Amino acid sequence: MSFKTTCPFALFFIFLLSCSIPETPQLLTVESPSGNNLVTFFLTEKGQAAYIVAHENKVVLDTSFLGFDFKDQPSLGTGLMVQGSTTSTFNETWEMPWGEQREVVNHYNELHIDLSEAGESARLFSVTFRVYDDGIGFRYSFPEQEGMKEAIIMDERTQFRLTGDHTAWWIPGDWDIYEHLYNKTKVSEINAISKRDHPNLAQTYIPFNAVNTPVTMKADNGLYLSFHEAALVDYSDMTLKVDTTTLLLESGLVGSDRLGYKVKRTLPFSTPWRTVQITERAGDLIESKLIVNLNEPNKLGDVSWFTPMKYVGIWWEMHLGVSTWDMGRTQDMSTHTTDKVTGAKHGATTANAKRYIDFAARNNIKGLLVEGWNTGWENWIGVEDREGVFDFVTPYPDYDIHEVVRYGREKGVELIMHHETSAAPRTYEQYVDSAYALIQSLGSHSVKSGYVGPIIPKGEYHHGQMMVNHYNNMAIKAAEYQVAVNAHEPIKATGLRRTYPNIISREGLRGQEFNAWASDGGNPPEHLPIVAFTRMLSGPIDFTPGIFNIKLNPHKPENQVNTTLAHQLALYVVIYSPVQMAADLPENYEGHPAFQFIRDVGADWEQTKVLDGEPGDFVVIARQEKDNGQWFLGAITDENPRDLDFTLDFLEDGKEYTATIYADGDEAHWDDNPTDYQITTTNVNKGSSLELKLAAGGGAAISFEKNRLL
Ligand code: NOJ
Ligand code: CA
Repeated sequence: MSFKTTCPFALFFIFLLSCSIPETPQLLTVESPSGNNLVTFFLTEKGQAAYIVAHENKVVLDTSFLGFDFKDQPSLGTGLMVQGSTTSTFNETWEMPWGEQREVVNHYNELHIDLSEAGESARLFSVTFRVYDDGIGFRYSFPEQEGMKEAIIMDERTQFRLTGDHTAWWIPGDWDIYEHLYNKTKVSEINAISKRDHPNLAQTYIPFNAVNTPVTMKADNGLYLSFHEAALVDYSDMTLKVDTTTLLLESGLVGSDRLGYKVKRTLPFSTPWRTVQITERAGDLIESKLIVNLNEPNKLGDVSWFTPMKYVGIWWEMHLGVSTWDMGRTQDMSTHTTDKVTGAKHGATTANAKRYIDFAARNNIKGLLVEGWNTGWENWIGVEDREGVFDFVTPYPDYDIHEVVRYGREKGVELIMHHETSAAPRTYEQYVDSAYALIQSLGSHSVKSGYVGPIIPKGEYHHGQMMVNHYNNMAIKAAEYQVAVNAHEPIKATGLRRTYPNIISREGLRGQEFNAWASDGGNPPEHLPIVAFTRMLSGPIDFTPGIFNIKLNPHKPENQVNTTLAHQLALYVVIYSPVQMAADLPENYEGHPAFQFIRDVGADWEQTKVLDGEPGDFVVIARQEKDNGQWFLGAITDENPRDLDFTLDFLEDGKEYTATIYADGDEAHWDDNPTDYQITTTNVNKGSSLELKLAAGGGAAISFEKNRLL
């Protein structure tokens, strides 16, 4: 480790790039444990706080300023003085109760700088940098002080000055919804405003040319950068405004039209961490644990009441229009109206739930999600005032919840409850204790929640401070009832699952459901090869993979899934979530040889290795199941067929394995022939190499079984 407070020789060339550095600046620097990343903090001649980030002696973020705009107070950012600074190092290994891996190394060097303005009413704040081998995080803290009791933040002015016109994978900076398709453009070509009107999104608000995070970039020299935030608590979500001319990114916080500001906090407080993951290999972005590391340790203690699992659900059938959420009328998810009367029947009946339980019990699946079980759905879609629509405890008369739970228990299948809040958080907060108490009394340990539509009260957004607090508070409350939460239309993931491990999974992306009803043709084949390097860096995803009836016939002849069947299987390994749905209708799985992979695949991992990949092109991930040590591998490609060749270095030394390979058939193609697949077995060991042929939009899934006698 080394901390430098003088001008290091290696930094000399950085000065040449950074015109704002005064002639004799006081440079405060901190480098990562291996020395590959270096942060330099300094004040400009005007007393502006600025930082520079270098990786392997090359600047990756040039002079970037820090500051805030407040209500009823001058902006903070100039005329600053360094009051003092400290450095420290930290190295720990902590254990995830469930996750991509059991053990996580949290090793960083820290530089903490206390700053103040000049004069009598000088305001004080500090900036803390944590520098890791896989990137950096920094945050602001406002200590208790005389002249400032409360901060009403109109915006945060945190800059990230790019050093080139990188290729970026981005979604628009939407204040409500993360369910946009990804775009791949140069930073200079980012145009989020053009993405405002999406036919399938209930509401979007994109006030300026900004992107949501994580946003991932690749520089011309091959370096990967991903921008995000960690520990989003009592603050609003940070989008990144993009200046396409100067290639400057600047924080644009989500606001509240109702309140007219972005964040209100009483001092003392700290902001979330602003993060930049920096890696030379794309796969290292996925392996990086920087986001969870920047969160506080587990505050819940023993959470063994929840067990990671695969689940089925009375769910896809509603998205296909085969059945309905409500008992009386019918809804159309694609238009969010009740216009269409299809004659479909209520899905959540006792008999249907038992049918799914029987199927799950026969197939090593431990959970059953039932949506549309509670009254209120008939009063939801298309209704402006959605307060009080649901009480979350009253089942429809054709659904005997106690009988379903009893039957499930007999068969070893636990009910996953569903709470569609209709984006009315005040109603949810009013009923939530009785709702979670019901879940606990039924012996269940998880809930899927949902926040479809514009937030009530008007003028609030899904990602504003009010909702950030709502989502976090609901998860903390759920823990009191030993309930784990999988939120849809959620606040974005920022690694809080470390602190509250009952935050098990979430949506927060264009999920599988879009393939059932999106009028734009659904998710393209490149969707998940992008998601793996963007959205997945923030945390677990409830994507709901495993559709075998790719063309959705006869139910949705106009829609389809745009991947091969083997690609769907690979997603159980590629996408991480401790709840992993087998999303298709049971009748599409019954008797299907490829279903064996879903039966076998794990949901909780000892370790994860990203063998290869490029954002938007392909990715190959191997994961070892916790406790039994079995390995699984998933590979997916975009619309281009791809031959992959890799070595099985991750297998245990001296052991022989039978690899069962579920691959695309010779004629497979995501559109022309998506269900062409083949299953082969071969003997392998550590060091064996494997060749896989992925079809256009294709994939491969492999399970490795240790040969017992050897
Ligand atoms: C949107 C969710 O993403 C989906 O999974 C759910 O079925 C509907 N809302 C209804 O709550
Ligand atoms: Ca959704």
